[in-house]
Amino acid sequence: MSSASSPPAHADSDRRCPSWLLNLPMRRSLSPMRRWLERCGIGPGETVADLGAGTGMLLPWILERVGDSGTVWMVDIDPRNLMAARMKLGGTVRFAERVRWLAHSAAALPEISTGSIDLAVSFGLLCCMVEKEKAVDELYRILKPGGRALVNFHCLDLPISERARALRMTWERWQRLRARAPWITEPGLSHGRWIHTECLRKPTGAPGPERMFRSSSRIHQE
Ligand SMILES: C[S@@+](CC[C@H](N)C(=O)[O-])C[C@H]1O[C@@H](n2cnc3c(N)ncnc32)[C@H](O)[C@@H]1O
Repeated sequence: MSSASSPPAHADSDRRCPSWLLNLPMRRSLSPMRRWLERCGIGPGETVADLGAGTGMLLPWILERVGDSGTVWMVDIDPRNLMAARMKLGGTVRFAERVRWLAHSAAALPEISTGSIDLAVSFGLLCCMVEKEKAVDELYRILKPGGRALVNFHCLDLPISERARALRMTWERWQRLRARAPWITEPGLSHGRWIHTECLRKPTGAPGPERMFRSSSRIHQE
């Protein structure tokens, strides 16, 4: 598994989720994520980045959808979750060659080129991490112009721990994060009170890599 660098110091403040919890069969069977991904659009030959990928609940399905010419980046700060995801592929070399593993914070993804991703998935990530602004900026940066992002988070004030409370997402916070870039919202996904799912599109006229870097550093200075 390639890990470009060891997790940054701030990573200890991010929330980890145990593999057994993420692997509960009930999660996969009840999750509407496949339907959401289909709404967002996922097809042959595409490059997908799963940020906060956990144990790869839908990795085999995503690989089937992108086909032999597609690629999937699996990004998670916890290498144990990525290992569990890797085991889901078993010995299927045909799949394994098309997956890139990054045990790294989604807040900084220098390994993923600007404008290289067709579909980025952030499922349950924002409510687990500290550097939400940086993650959303990276999400925008790595997408191709016209690329899509499926963003999902809950706004529940769960009495799990102080950390969970501190990292909690709110609708207002999401509005501020979303406003950091000129996203287009695709209609049809849920804007629930407690669980929010949105499919965003990067405008096709979005700046190319060089201008993107300038605008993204401006975003970081806000
Ligand atoms: C609620 S789980 C969701 C996992 C997966 N998306 C799913 O739905 O099964 C959140 C995941 O985000 C990961 N995570 C937390 N902070 C992170 C960060 N800064 N960068 C990347 N992943 C992070 C956790 O390790 C965990 O696997």
